[in-house]
Amino acid sequence: MGNKLFHQQVAIVTGAGKGIGFAVARQLALQGASVILNDIDIELAESASNKIKEEGGLCESYGGDISTIEIIEGIVTFTIETFGKLDILLANAGITTYGDFLEYQPESMQKLLQINLFGTFFLTQAATKQMVKQGHGGSILITSSVTAHAAHPFLAAYGMTKAGLDQLVKNLVIDLGPHKININTMVPGATLTERTLIEDPDYLEIWSRITPSGRPSTTDDIVNAALFLVSPASRQIMGQNLVIDGGWTSVGVPPY
Ligand SMILES: NC(=O)c1ccc[n+]([C@@H]2O[C@H](COP(=O)([O-])OP(=O)(O)OC[C@H]3O[C@@H](n4cnc5c(N)ncnc54)[C@H](O)[C@@H]3O)[C@@H](O)[C@H]2O)c1
Repeated sequence: MGNKLFHQQVAIVTGAGKGIGFAVARQLALQGASVILNDIDIELAESASNKIKEEGGLCESYGGDISTIEIIEGIVTFTIETFGKLDILLANAGITTYGDFLEYQPESMQKLLQINLFGTFFLTQAATKQMVKQGHGGSILITSSVTAHAAHPFLAAYGMTKAGLDQLVKNLVIDLGPHKININTMVPGATLTERTLIEDPDYLEIWSRITPSGRPSTTDDIVNAALFLVSPASRQIMGQNLVIDGGWTSVGVPPY
């Protein structure tokens, strides 16, 4: 137990009922961290947390919409009550809304901004306040997307929010650096998850064709990058946007 990489570390992972968030939460727990797992779907958060516990990980769920101040404050309080401190935040919850630019509706924009930007910003603020109070540093990682770096059809609004997150971590090195908190984004490209496979049954075939590495990413690819960025090995890496995309952003061939 004592030689696990995240022994005695406490982590919050949001949007972790499935997909990338779940994969990272699971691996953090299997590598010794105590994890608070959030999802807006309360039952899903609980069942995901139970799966991790069945594998021997320490994990508790805190369900709710992480773009609301009530749940943001609640999850930090719950983390302290449950595990006594907070060392790592993965602000992963985000939504993807597709839409033709000329038809894009204000209601879709409001929701997107609320979850991807407002929620992530204030969750990062709440986690930082807690880490500053503790006085022994920490690590914050935010999930961005390659759509912040390369044009992608129907994802102008989504890409704009993710570009905001990439810039947020650059700005926050000023506020967090003196407190020994490192902050970065991980920037997945096309990644095989439950959602992407439902949204497009041809996802694997299309992205295998246009990705230089010959395949889309798996959640394991993203987990490897995430664990590095919240581990002691990356403490001097700050304000960076780490792209994990099999080379797609360098060529930027659109999928459709
Ligand atoms: N899958 C990809 O190809 C891909 C690529 C680039 C970036 N991303 C980003 O990775 C993150 C996870 O995406 P994914 O595809 O693994 O999973 P996903 O999009 O299926 O979402 C994972 C979970 O987030 C939860 N969620 C949504 N809104 C929430 C909220 N307000 N509060 C709490 N939980 C909420 C959902 O219920 C879901 O269980 C997102 O930020 C997404 O933008 C994904």
